[in-house]
Amino acid sequence: MSRFLSERFQSLEPYVPGEQPSDRKYIRLNTNESPYPPPPEVMDAVTPGEIAALNLYPSHSGADLIAKLAEAYNVLPENLIIGNGSDELLAFSFLAFGDKERGICFPDVTYGFYSIYASLFGVPAEQIPLRDDLTINPADYFGKNKNIVIANPNAPTCIALPLGDIEAIIKSNPDHIVLIDEAYVDFGGESAIPLIHKYDNLLVMHTFSKSRFMAGARLACAIASAPIIADLTKMKYSFNPYNVNHLSQVMGEAALSNEAYYREMRHEIIETRKYTEQALRELGFSMTESSTNLIFATHPAIGGFDFYTALKDRGVLIRHFNKPRISEYLRITIGTRAEMEGLIEAVTVILAEGA
Ligand SMILES: Cc1ncc(COP(=O)(O)O)c(C=O)c1O
Repeated sequence: MSRFLSERFQSLEPYVPGEQPSDRKYIRLNTNESPYPPPPEVMDAVTPGEIAALNLYPSHSGADLIAKLAEAYNVLPENLIIGNGSDELLAFSFLAFGDKERGICFPDVTYGFYSIYASLFGVPAEQIPLRDDLTINPADYFGKNKNIVIANPNAPTCIALPLGDIEAIIKSNPDHIVLIDEAYVDFGGESAIPLIHKYDNLLVMHTFSKSRFMAGARLACAIASAPIIADLTKMKYSFNPYNVNHLSQVMGEAALSNEAYYREMRHEIIETRKYTEQALRELGFSMTESSTNLIFATHPAIGGFDFYTALKDRGVLIRHFNKPRISEYLRITIGTRAEMEGLIEAVTVILAEGA
């Protein structure tokens, strides 16, 4: 820290992304990425002509991509804004709607950026404990008199809340924003998007990083009533009007033209998840009920950190969180079937050796 860092950021604890070591070849199951590439349409979209167009600023409105997203989600263009990953749109949301009076609440175990953005933007945050089984109790969010952010399905727990519970939370907080972060919804959750026509306080976040296999493109969108989108747009034009680069916009449009590919590959990922869950159960693990491309598992014989280290030693990266309540868990991203077989093999050896 330099002596120039603003006083207000001195205690800020930044996000720690999943490690990307390059000392050897790893099976990487630690960053929630897809093991599969985007569909061929995306490769074909990046033509020399589009690359040549990089001399120009990208579309600041993202109108072409927004038109395609509007069609895909059955909403109007005025219900959409695109961003440089959902992290950026989450930041715009905390900036736009967070203030000292309203505050924000979210589960005590959830996506790490919520508490970081609350701290960065000076929004008082209340962390609401999950139940002992790591599920959200919807009633804890009724009439909160605060803004609310919930990842559904939640991360890293992988557990989804039924849409009826989400709707009850939105309904009981009509004067506050309820932000539903649906980063993993395409793997088995129920989307709240249709509810934006009914509730003007609902803000839904989708990303191309997980179920559209484009984490490297940094592309996401937020869907909400037109006034909420106008507020987020105000933040964007006060921060970075050209927030989504040209190639990502072009690739995003192309990605929306092949739903069949995504359906098939997501099915593959879910089948591989079921295979892995079964294999881990047979090895003595217990796990939450996943509606995502992740598994959140724990083993009675070996601690979370020891398991993480032993797996890394054997060339497999998974994510371990040294946090209260979840430090005994491993968060495992679903890779290809071969990668998961590699994981199971490594786990089998570790258990046989007693760590
Ligand atoms: C719940 C949740 N929201 C948002 C994000 C960030 O997604 P993006 O890549 O779109 O910034 C993640 C990434 O892991 C996540 O788990």
